[in-house]
Amino acid sequence: MLTVQNLHKAYPMGKTTCEVLKGISLEVGDGEFVAVMGPSGSGKTTLLNCISCYLPADAGSIRLNGGELTRLRGDALAAVRNRRLGFVFQDFLLLDGLTVRENILLPAIIGGTADAQAEARADRLCAIFGIAAIAQKYPAEISGGEKQRTAVARALINEPLLILADEPTGNLDSKSARAVIRSFEQAKAALGATIFMVTHDSYAASFCDRVVILRDGVVWRTLGRERRERAAFQDALLDSIREMGREGA
Ligand SMILES: Nc1ncnc2c1ncn2[C@@H]1O[C@H](COP(=O)(O)OP(=O)(O)O)[C@@H](O)[C@H]1O
Ligand SMILES: [Mg+2]
Repeated sequence: MLTVQNLHKAYPMGKTTCEVLKGISLEVGDGEFVAVMGPSGSGKTTLLNCISCYLPADAGSIRLNGGELTRLRGDALAAVRNRRLGFVFQDFLLLDGLTVRENILLPAIIGGTADAQAEARADRLCAIFGIAAIAQKYPAEISGGEKQRTAVARALINEPLLILADEPTGNLDSKSARAVIRSFEQAKAALGATIFMVTHDSYAASFCDRVVILRDGVVWRTLGRERRERAAFQDALLDSIREMGREGA
């Protein structure tokens, strides 16, 4: 599905550059729910923005179902972003003037594919995520958890290969955060969605199949949930983060 190999990215810093990604390699399998953790400044958002094709990589390869993303430009790039990738942002980014259902249809409208089939899919997504009853409401009239479930449904409208999410639970209380994670689990179970989520929250990460921990721009460790209970996996994640802290000290 997604294969990242030896990815490098630096930002200009005055007359020099600051290398943020120093050779990241990772894979995400079809239908897998993977989290990226790591301290603030470790490069999580930069990695996500490179995979999103929002930032150009300096070196390395990002392949999605075999297709190289780092060489895409112009219309081909826009098509991949609109049709192959789905995005969930921390601040939802719902349009206030559109209803829940219209917001969900927005990527299809932008892609010129808002036909009866897309409308039927929007209704199915509303049913899966338990927002059918509020489909005609506007964002100002719904809760934070409902907004984020709307955002997850919107990310799925064009049947993307991969959902990318940067701190999707970052601004939410624990109940709403749980609702967002549940919507990812439902997307995986009902639609076979593949999800790549950046989070600093070990609770959110503990629902994933696998967690990639970054430090200083490289993959420090990868942990699989395997058959562990969620709480046991969260304990293992917290142990790893403490161990990383001791190594760094
Ligand atoms: N647009 C930018 N220009 C310059 N430096 C940046 C930019 N974006 C991020 N950085 C720097 O890159 C490093 C990694 O940032 P980021 O990828 O946002 O980390 P994280 O999401 O893990 O907190 C930080 O030191 C940050 O200050
Ligand atoms: Mg970040």
